[in-house]
Amino acid sequence: MKILREYLMEAGNDGSAIGHFNISNFVQLKGIVSACLKTNSPVMIGTSEGEADFLGMKTARHLVDAMKEETGLPIFLNADHFHSFEKAKEAIDAGYDSVLIDYSKKPYEENLEITKRVVEYAKSVNSEISVEGELGYLVTDSSKVYKESFEISPESLTKPEEALKFVHETGVDRFAPAVGNLHGIAANEPKLDLELIKKLRAVLPEETAMVLHGGSGIPDDQMREAVKLGFNNVHISTELRVAYTDALRKMLAAAPEETTPYKIYGPVVEAVSVKVAEKLELFGKFN
Ligand code: G3H
Ligand code: ZN
Repeated sequence: MKILREYLMEAGNDGSAIGHFNISNFVQLKGIVSACLKTNSPVMIGTSEGEADFLGMKTARHLVDAMKEETGLPIFLNADHFHSFEKAKEAIDAGYDSVLIDYSKKPYEENLEITKRVVEYAKSVNSEISVEGELGYLVTDSSKVYKESFEISPESLTKPEEALKFVHETGVDRFAPAVGNLHGIAANEPKLDLELIKKLRAVLPEETAMVLHGGSGIPDDQMREAVKLGFNNVHISTELRVAYTDALRKMLAAAPEETTPYKIYGPVVEAVSVKVAEKLELFGKFN
């Protein structure tokens, strides 16, 4: 089976992107994998620090392995937005395939130092582990629906020359920039800076995968364009959380007497699966 780096490169070469979807339980994983099976799509499963604490890193590893064995699909496990060397190390030691070490809100030098350290540690454990770094300021951190609107200032966006320097100095495999994206769904519509995406792709080495965070709420036409212009990987969380909780609330209201978990969660798995299938279609067919 190919390694994550190879799948990301293939996606870049054919103008598509691999989906990254967050989970904190098996119901979400089941929904995501059932959608990927239909198109035979490789996929990244992410756990944030909070999601990993709830699920357990070893448990996440075993669940993903079980789904890989059962389906034959390439499924990769990512430690998503880990905020310390120690936590990143814990994920690497638990057998994660990938880590995003996120020091983007810290001064540049600190970001550089910790990211580099994580790259060195990951590669010393297993050269196939893919490490992502982030540079630029995303105005929100939580994957939720916000009531307020957010303005994104041009100064918070990633500068191509700094991006290149950061990628060179850290040795990351994947790079997450700020290009008008934010985490969660805001009251106002996001507007990606497509020119900046083009510039970043042109300046970064071909082997560096570009990662778009905050995929929820980005209109379909902008998403298609962003993938075409250079993102090899797109993260989606909030839209799946909304699909999950809407379906669960609806089910519980429709059948208040139901107590069998697999009957309650059937429509939830389906709702997550439908949302993931929509996104995979948007990211480009990959089979
Ligand atoms: O790392 C996770 C994501 O960037 C998810 O963002 O909640 O806006 O889809 P989202
Ligand atoms: Zn993110």
